[in-house]
Amino acid sequence: MSEKVKVGIWGLGRAGGGMHMREIEANKDILEIVAVCDIDAERAESFGKKLNVPYYSDPAKFLADKNIQLVSVATFSLDHIRHTRQALEAGFCAYIEKPIAASRAEAEELVELDKKYPGKLFVRQNRRFETCFQHVREIIDSGILGKVHTIKLCRNAFSRRDDWQTLLANNGGQLNNWGPHLIDHALQFLKYEVKSVWSELKLIAAQGDAEDCVKIIMQGKDGLTVDIEIFGGNALPDNIYEVYGSRGALLVETEDDIKLRYIEPDYELKPYPVNTGHPAGFKFADNAEIPWRRTTIMVEPKLKVNMNSCYRYVAESIRDGKEYPIKLAEALAVVEICDIVKSQSAFYNKELAK
Ligand SMILES: NC(=O)c1ccc[n+]([C@@H]2O[C@H](COP(=O)([O-])OP(=O)(O)OC[C@H]3O[C@@H](n4cnc5c(N)ncnc54)[C@H](O)[C@@H]3O)[C@@H](O)[C@H]2O)c1
Repeated sequence: MSEKVKVGIWGLGRAGGGMHMREIEANKDILEIVAVCDIDAERAESFGKKLNVPYYSDPAKFLADKNIQLVSVATFSLDHIRHTRQALEAGFCAYIEKPIAASRAEAEELVELDKKYPGKLFVRQNRRFETCFQHVREIIDSGILGKVHTIKLCRNAFSRRDDWQTLLANNGGQLNNWGPHLIDHALQFLKYEVKSVWSELKLIAAQGDAEDCVKIIMQGKDGLTVDIEIFGGNALPDNIYEVYGSRGALLVETEDDIKLRYIEPDYELKPYPVNTGHPAGFKFADNAEIPWRRTTIMVEPKLKVNMNSCYRYVAESIRDGKEYPIKLAEALAVVEICDIVKSQSAFYNKELAK
């Protein structure tokens, strides 16, 4: 089949009117926007006229537009499930923005919808296809860093945010904002095997009542620890990736380059006996012979994906019947970690506030 998948975008804000538009444009050989909807009538009209497509400020009329195949749900977080259900009930496929739910219990409705409308519900973990995440994963899998024991994932900034996403009543907060992306990355690294979760939430620079700083330490089952830091109150941002292994490490400062220091792959690190007496000279270790390699490489994963790829996978699944690479169960696992983090914080667990 060669027709394009016809998309209706529901919610035309920073996500729907920005990211979704750009991603669809980047995949215009396979996707086209055929309708837009926003309760802000002026906004709906301005996008509709710009794109030359029907525009709606009444969601019921939008959902009656039978030209649509796929509804992208990019409305406020608390409405994602309801709007996804309405889109599926109207006969469309649905592409649900993160956060997919405010809790795992609430997400059960998505499990039911997925059973009732098989192959029609697509979860948007779009940062799974970041080139940098992909390349870092390929390097870890190549084995040059040896056995990886610690991965740090970090997105820091200093941001005096003042929008609806800074309010707990809207299911706002940094945990629901960047959290689903980095928790998804962490779970991919941990292969969904999590032994323990420690977390801490703080409010530093944002103007609402929800946390803007998230720290989560996830312990895996094979000696791997993933340390997530998403701080809206850090004026000196850290590297976005740090990976430490038994034969080397990597750092990523910006999304362009990866800095590596690792032991020559052919070199065998032979164990040598511990000196139980007092050391000869003033040494602590014998590292002199290790053949280190240092290099900085451009971010260029072998798998040619990028931030526009998620939409493409959705379209290829609808049009060509290809398997969508992000499973609902994986997005549910993200929500389960969010539930644990919420249970550990007085922002969400009122028992802890006493
Ligand atoms: N995946 C990502 O990378 C990513 C990035 C940004 C935002 N998001 C998610 O997208 C969602 C929207 O965030 P945003 O930053 O675009 O918010 P926003 O406030 O900029 O935009 C939301 C838009 O939805 C419209 N809207 C609200 N209720 C509606 C309804 N019932 N019918 C039609 N339109 C309605 C609003 O008028 C507004 O234009 C959030 O849940 C957020 O978590 C995801």
